[in-house]
Amino acid sequence: MPFLRGMMMLAAGALLCAGHLATASERDDPRTPYRRPTSIPFPENAPYSPQMATLGKMLFFDPRLSGKQNLSCASCHNPSFGFEVPVPGAIGATNTPLGRKAPTVLNAAWIPTLFWDGRAPDLETQAMGPITADAEMDGKFPEIIARLKARPEYEAWFARLFPGKGVTQEGILTAIATYERTVVSGWAPFDRWVEGDETAIAPAAQRGFALFTGKAGCASCHTGWNFTDNRFHDLGLPTRDLGRAAFEPDSVLARHAFKTPGLRNLTYRAPFGHAGQFADLEAIVAFYESGGIARPSKSPLMKPLQLAPEERADLIAFLRALTAEQTRTALPNLPN
Ligand code: HEC
Ligand code: HEC
Repeated sequence: MPFLRGMMMLAAGALLCAGHLATASERDDPRTPYRRPTSIPFPENAPYSPQMATLGKMLFFDPRLSGKQNLSCASCHNPSFGFEVPVPGAIGATNTPLGRKAPTVLNAAWIPTLFWDGRAPDLETQAMGPITADAEMDGKFPEIIARLKARPEYEAWFARLFPGKGVTQEGILTAIATYERTVVSGWAPFDRWVEGDETAIAPAAQRGFALFTGKAGCASCHTGWNFTDNRFHDLGLPTRDLGRAAFEPDSVLARHAFKTPGLRNLTYRAPFGHAGQFADLEAIVAFYESGGIARPSKSPLMKPLQLAPEERADLIAFLRALTAEQTRTALPNLPN
């Protein structure tokens, strides 16, 4: 598990920092667990290099990776929409909406298992899925490799980054995954507040943070700077999708359980939920207040919730403060 090794290094780094820097007041500050990490965890077998990330970015945006050369990863993970698309079901090669919403690629470097049901163990394995799935990009690797080799610029990039190997399936997946690890949500007003700028977010958002981490119980699943425990929970949503249960058939709690999504850059990422069931933040907060359907699989962490209208507004003001001030992504130049 190269990823885990990366995480362990990060954890060790965090401990060191804590030992050197955390003062008593920082330890008592409820904002401390939300401080951003200072580095991206790259696995040992896929270290960062600007060249690898640049090649990966070209491939992420290049429709040559699809069967009909009309769809790229960015077709469903569009930077303008928080690396998602603003529809409940993204449309792929078969022109029909997919059954699940495209989740964001933001902060994927920190997500240990990919997909709503966690079926991919790393970004390299994940990227293989959409390229070849007929309902997504419907690509065939031998054809894709031939197409890229026919572009001298791509050939040169691969020859340099993968000496002696050139354009291969593995190389394509490594480059895409390396780029994805660099897709990190930018500084949000919330981050400035966490670092001690007391006026970076409005009093309403500050009260919302207190609700989020307190009475509303949101932080029991949406933990840490990216606001996810990366675990699977059934919230009690009406759905026939079995979610995580496909991999944990014997676990009662895995039925209809989906991975907790991170909450960064929500302003650009509606609709919400694994099937895009919620048009906006108001709708999802109303759902949490309703408490969801009672069934054996429903997470015990889902607590009944009653919010006064001002509290609802405060909670939403807090969620909005998690969106970065700068979200522009420059498009890559693709080889002609
Ligand atoms: C046709 C739309 C579509 C295309 C094209 C597409 N994806 Fe996705 N992507 C999805 C959907 C839908 C999911 C969720 C599927 C699921 O969880 O079962 C997903 C999931 C993901 C995830 C998991 C994120 C998480 O938090 O678990 C990553 C990463 C990702 N895609 C990257 C890519 C890459 C890289 C490509 C190009 C090689 C790509 N996608 C192409 C629709 C698409
Ligand atoms: C039991 C764990 C748990 C608790 C508690 C919880 N969430 Fe969630 N949250 C999830 C999961 C899992 C999803 C994905 C739900 C789905 O579609 O199946 C989710 C989805 C969301 C989304 C949509 C994000 C997206 O990318 O689609 C938002 C916003 C959200 N939660 C906010 C909150 C707020 C606010 C609270 C507190 C009122 C809260 N959550 C409490 C686990 C939890």
